Amino acid sequence: MKFFIDTANLAQIKEANDLGILDGVTTNPSLMAKEGIKGTEAVMQHYKTICEMVNGDISAEVISTDFDGIVAEGKILAAIHPNIVVKVPMIKEGIKAIKWFTDNGIKTNCTLIFSAGQAILAAKAGATYVSPFIGRIDDSGWDGVELIAQIANIYAIQGFKTEILAASIRNALHIVKCAEAGADVCTCPLDSILGLLKHPLTDIGLAKFLEDAKKFA
Ligand code: G3P
Repeated sequence: MKFFIDTANLAQIKEANDLGILDGVTTNPSLMAKEGIKGTEAVMQHYKTICEMVNGDISAEVISTDFDGIVAEGKILAAIHPNIVVKVPMIKEGIKAIKWFTDNGIKTNCTLIFSAGQAILAAKAGATYVSPFIGRIDDSGWDGVELIAQIANIYAIQGFKTEILAASIRNALHIVKCAEAGADVCTCPLDSILGLLKHPLTDIGLAKFLEDAKKFA
């Protein structure tokens, strides 16, 4: 399973990248706004900076909702760097645009996936990735991880090549459960990645080893 970080914060991207386990980055308009980035030039420069920091797929989201607008925006985003993946919302015009990008060799991430039906449609259009939002599904009283497992099963039966990118990850357990359920990628906040490190018995065990090491130092 690949690890992406789900942020536009450069310090957090650097910290995750320095671990040596980072395979890519996902952003969205909310995450870009959180960093206070304003204006098209600044947004483009920010994506370029991220691409230069991390050697992997970098999702950059369109904000148009009509076919012509999505395609025009996606072409500009894709021209920033070969690692850019154009992130397109799961809407009718988005599916048409994903098919266009697929036919023209541009990688896509179909975002805002909340059902298996949506994931099938995105795969039919040739999306490189689908992004089921598992935390938001949990918030609405359903089981996000179950959707990952369902999509993984369907893609395996049907031979779809689209990768399942589990998004809206809220904690380390989500990452473990997504790995079990067959996600190809987890895109995570830094805290959730670092949460994987933690176990109280590791801390207690290390403290004891270091204490005992003093006996023969
Ligand atoms: O990648 C999508 C993700 O950022 C959504 O996460 O926490 O806003 O539901 P969240």
